[in-house]
Amino acid sequence: MSQTVQPAAQATNEATPAAGSRDRYAVVGNPVGHSKSPFIHTRFAEQTGEAIEYTRLLAPIDAFVPHVRAFIEAGGRGLNVTVPFKLEAHALATKLSPRAAAAGAVNTLRFEAGEIDGDNTDGLGLVRDIEVNLTTPLKGARILLLGAGGAARGVVLPMLERAPHTLTIVNRTATKASELVNRFSAAAREAGCRLTGGGVASMEPGVYDIIINATAGSLDAALPDCDDGAFGSGTLAYDMMYGAQPTVFMQHAQTLGARAADGLGMLVEQAAESFYVWRGVRPDGAPVLAQLRQMLAAPDVA
Ligand code: ATR
Repeated sequence: MSQTVQPAAQATNEATPAAGSRDRYAVVGNPVGHSKSPFIHTRFAEQTGEAIEYTRLLAPIDAFVPHVRAFIEAGGRGLNVTVPFKLEAHALATKLSPRAAAAGAVNTLRFEAGEIDGDNTDGLGLVRDIEVNLTTPLKGARILLLGAGGAARGVVLPMLERAPHTLTIVNRTATKASELVNRFSAAAREAGCRLTGGGVASMEPGVYDIIINATAGSLDAALPDCDDGAFGSGTLAYDMMYGAQPTVFMQHAQTLGARAADGLGMLVEQAAESFYVWRGVRPDGAPVLAQLRQMLAAPDVA
């Protein structure tokens, strides 16, 4: 099977053993058949000794809420939410974490004491992948964020909280980038970060330390507009998508001398943070990421 490019903020594949008395979790989406979340969370459960069962829940496009309610009725403790339900999950939550409110989307639901707690771990997943797995500090960095859709919005606040020097948001539709700049201007001021953005003309001259592709362009092998001068040998070029092959954005960055990374680590780290939200125990993402990387390289062997 040749794997297509996937967004890290969505999940994809693997089977999980079920067991009667374990606390129940699942990933809900449509499609959800290739979600890697059951594999990841089952590894986390083995690693931490937590007694959980984690499965896939396919909800019809027009029946997200009844499927979530039925899962709660059946004793479910929490859900990861993937495409296309993150906005509906945001609306369904009776309580929102600050990062979910800022993202305007929910990827993690926790059912506790009659409440539906909505959280969003995608942004922290990106931050941890960049800082921990890729050992690149965000503090003091000049960062360029390409894209201004849901994926981009979800990562702005967690990145600002790391106090970068500069965050420039550039989008094909300039007004959407400007809206994000306005939305997060107070948080940027608080973090001491210079937050600007708009169309490609709003890029600052010179090389950026980190360039993040949060556009959906990689899904159809499209390269987002970005000056080549932004890439240098010290640049980390990060694509929030991943696939068996480097994305076009990663390949382009590499030809310009930059170090490139895909979003597989973000997928694992957002899962680790969800696991922490549910269980109060933080699993180690690195060994699971290594296993997934192997599976992605040789999908028929896994
Ligand atoms: P997501 O939840 O994945 O962010 P979205 O909210 O639809 O999805 O946002 C998609 C983002 O990818 C937008 O920033 C979009 O740019 P526009 O706002 O101009 O539509 C961007 N995008 C999608 N395809 C692109 C392409 N071929 N080149 C550049 N940007 C692209």
